[in-house]
Amino acid sequence: MIKVSNLSFSYQEGSSILSNINLEFDRSHTAIIGQNGAGKTTFAKMLKGLLKPYQGEILIGSQNVQNTTAAELAKVIGLVFQNPNDQIFKSNVLDEVLFGPLNLRIDKDIAKLNAMKALEMVGLRDKLDMNPHDLSLSEKKLLCIASVVAMDTDIIILDEPTIAQDHKGKEMIRSVIQSLKKQKKLVMTIIHDMEFVAENFDRTIVLNEGKVILDGDTRHVFSQKDILKQAHVEPPGITQLGEKLGYQETFLTVEELVEKQRKS
Ligand SMILES: Nc1ncnc2c1ncn2[C@@H]1O[C@H](COP(=O)(O)OP(=O)(O)OP(=O)(O)O)[C@@H](O)[C@H]1O
Ligand SMILES: [Mg+2]
Repeated sequence: MIKVSNLSFSYQEGSSILSNINLEFDRSHTAIIGQNGAGKTTFAKMLKGLLKPYQGEILIGSQNVQNTTAAELAKVIGLVFQNPNDQIFKSNVLDEVLFGPLNLRIDKDIAKLNAMKALEMVGLRDKLDMNPHDLSLSEKKLLCIASVVAMDTDIIILDEPTIAQDHKGKEMIRSVIQSLKKQKKLVMTIIHDMEFVAENFDRTIVLNEGKVILDGDTRHVFSQKDILKQAHVEPPGITQLGEKLGYQETFLTVEELVEKQRKS
């Protein structure tokens, strides 16, 4: 669905932020990880057409992002911004979530239905009249997720969805992601929470200083201790524990390790 070829970018001449990125995305759920400043948000903004490459191209289906209008792109790709305050601009919760679908000219009744469903999923259905700026940071983030989900695009990018979330918020985000998976959407998630990556994503890409240094099955990626170290990324606690216990396998969940211990 997305093909990125030889993509390079810099904000200022001479300081390269992304260099020569080649990636293809199908509908498997993908996590993008890497330390602060690695270029993850920049990459997401490029996919959404908000920044233009100085080299290379991005194809979404057969459309070149650079030659596609923001309105056309909005029909196929949604981006939840890292900072909710960069996204929120309406004065009540319902209007905020309705804006996207209405802007895509989705039928009014369907737009309302989509919006209410999305708000229900993130637990904000009883806050329709509230001013988004009066919500907590975690609620603002959930609101931004609902706004993008309501647009029903085939591709959804979440930039740090679990930021500021407690256990309940994370569970809601997990169920949103699972539901998008069921609908066969392409979900790409930029995230620092390695436990969440291990439990929810089939594929993981590691960015380091604007380059892809690992890309593959999440279990394989978390087995690459040395390369991860180079990117200043720590594998999930459970993966590290399994290794300390002397196992050869890479564990992604507590259940996997418990099962292994039970059998041995
Ligand atoms: N608007 C901008 N102008 C100039 N430099 C920028 C701009 N936005 C980001 N940068 C720089 O580009 C690099 C990559 O930033 P980016 O926000 O893409 O990283 P990130 O991987 O998303 O980091 P984080 O995990 O902290 O969100 C950083 O060095 C950052 O300082
Ligand atoms: Mg970022």
